[in-house]
Amino acid sequence: CMSEEKNLTYLVDTVDVPVESGYQVKITGRSPIGVFKLGDNFYAIDDTCTHGNFSLCEGLIFDGQVECSLHAGAFDIRTGAATDLPCVIPLKTYPVTVKDGKVYADIDNAE
Ligand code: FES
Repeated sequence: CMSEEKNLTYLVDTVDVPVESGYQVKITGRSPIGVFKLGDNFYAIDDTCTHGNFSLCEGLIFDGQVECSLHAGAFDIRTGAATDLPCVIPLKTYPVTVKDGKVYADIDNAE
């Protein structure tokens, strides 16, 4: 991995991330990020579906994936891969750090 120093941005408290869907974080000057929880792990991915302009945090989580509510496409929350049509373009994912009950991500360094 990169040895560069991470530039961590606070996203949300761990207790505020729902289990069944994502938590949308609006960030000035860029598209929003979705924080998702799978088991004990947290993931930060682009919140905007790559098929249309729709928030994935409005969709439901199933099998480690999030289903877009607009046309029922889906993405793997861990990798950002598009897993169901009509979605074909992957989402960007961001390295997450959890510390003292807070979720941070390096939002300038998509993986
Ligand atoms: Fe998400 Fe079409 S906008 S599947």
